[in-house]
Amino acid sequence: MTDEQLLSLARDVKERAYAPYSGFTVGAALLSRDGRVFTAVNVENASIGLSVCAERNAIAKAVSEGAREFETLAIATDSPEPTMPCGMCRQVLWEFAQDLRIIVGGADGSFVTTTIAELFPQPFTTYKLSG
Ligand code: THU
Repeated sequence: MTDEQLLSLARDVKERAYAPYSGFTVGAALLSRDGRVFTAVNVENASIGLSVCAERNAIAKAVSEGAREFETLAIATDSPEPTMPCGMCRQVLWEFAQDLRIIVGGADGSFVTTTIAELFPQPFTTYKLSG
């Protein structure tokens, strides 16, 4: 699975986003170490604070299906500029993937590559990681 293929899956699933309040649709495609891909979208609610980002929905979907180790996350939006994951999602991503690669696509077809370590260098954790 190439970065371009993963981003293409994120762009495809973005069409299913439920974002009637913000109009900002987001698609995410999360590649697990066993080769499975979990796609997800943002799901908003009339009670705005209950809206959930695409990235956290991808983690919830993957963990629910038994995947806990991840290699790469691709994120797609309609924003002209690549849009980085929000702070809440960074904390949730870090929980499961301290060495996650992140591909962020812009609407013009461009993309940038970063890592969770770069975006979230000082995580909150109450436990020491094993190893
Ligand atoms: N959103 C995401 O899905 N991911 C992010 O990292 C930031 C924001 C969603 C939440 C909401 O549905 C919409 O984008 C506008 O904030």
